[in-house]
Amino acid sequence: MRVVAKILKQAPLSLSHIIARTASFATPTSKKNRAAPQNFILNNQTAINQMNQAAPELDSPKLEVKGLYKTFDRLVVLENINIHLKANEFVCIVGASGCGKSTLLNIIAGLATPTSGTVLIDGETVLGPGCDRGMIFQNYSLFPWLTVSDNIGFGLSLKGITKAERQERIHYYLEVVGLKKFSNAYPKQLSGGMKQRVAIARALANEPEVLLMDEPFGALDAQTKEQMQQFMIELWSKTQTTILMITHDLEEGIYLSQRIYIMSANPGQIKQEQTISLPPSRTLDTKLTPKFIEIKRHLIQTLRENPLSENP
Ligand SMILES: Nc1ncnc2c1ncn2[C@@H]1O[C@H](COP(=O)(O)OP(=O)(O)O)[C@@H](O)[C@H]1O
Ligand SMILES: [Mg+2]
Repeated sequence: MRVVAKILKQAPLSLSHIIARTASFATPTSKKNRAAPQNFILNNQTAINQMNQAAPELDSPKLEVKGLYKTFDRLVVLENINIHLKANEFVCIVGASGCGKSTLLNIIAGLATPTSGTVLIDGETVLGPGCDRGMIFQNYSLFPWLTVSDNIGFGLSLKGITKAERQERIHYYLEVVGLKKFSNAYPKQLSGGMKQRVAIARALANEPEVLLMDEPFGALDAQTKEQMQQFMIELWSKTQTTILMITHDLEEGIYLSQRIYIMSANPGQIKQEQTISLPPSRTLDTKLTPKFIEIKRHLIQTLRENPLSENP
């Protein structure tokens, strides 16, 4: 983090420059990379044994939802949901309003309990909210009485992180989301896009294993929404944070993710899984490419053939 501080003392940079230059210090992923195991190779055979043991873990999901059901009274909202995210993947769940997306994300966040089924993070069953999951809501959920800096550092104070470390992380994530000049501003002084960037900085400052996002750009105007999508592409491509985002916007899902799950409603089910075979570095012009349009056309046709709601 000292190197990060040094970089941040330099002249103002664009978001993409800052992230590019500091990516290897940014996230839990990069932290883990830095903390590589010591004394790894004891001898050849030990090394081979260790690699064989380590191999399955590389493929094991970061997040897994298995056979999940949720019922409110007699209403079955989620039926047999099975999804997974590999480490560093950006996955979107796309579904119509009311199909159960928020219910699913709240269960993954540990804010609600499933009627049956399991949520696992790194193979450990989720039993409630935890620092391993950062949550971004549509309505920003900032504390209006706290400054931008204090909002970002709020969770860190609760975790008992020292003031010096807190300041360092706040400073760093303010720079990552391009809001350094607004560190002492209050949420009411910020635009919708800026508020959402503060919420993202706050979640990232806690260095979660998985970032969960519930229609984070749903309340933004079309232009700001596109800017935030571009921001997310840059953030993800440089920090490689594992992200699960839900949206009702198919185009947004295709643009941002490596893989998409399509949900149907009544009851909420996963109807389709689609790998998005676009290059990982995307710009807004990617949405105009023949490949993007082909993927979108294919998914729209699939949705027409399999309406999202069986019982509208
Ligand atoms: N606490 C609750 N009690 C009863 N019904 C609920 C509750 N939360 C959500 N629902 C119902 O579950 C369905 C899915 O809601 P939600 O997960 O918010 O959908 P989405 O996020 O896809 O718009 C809706 O029919 C909603 O009315
Ligand atoms: Mg919702």
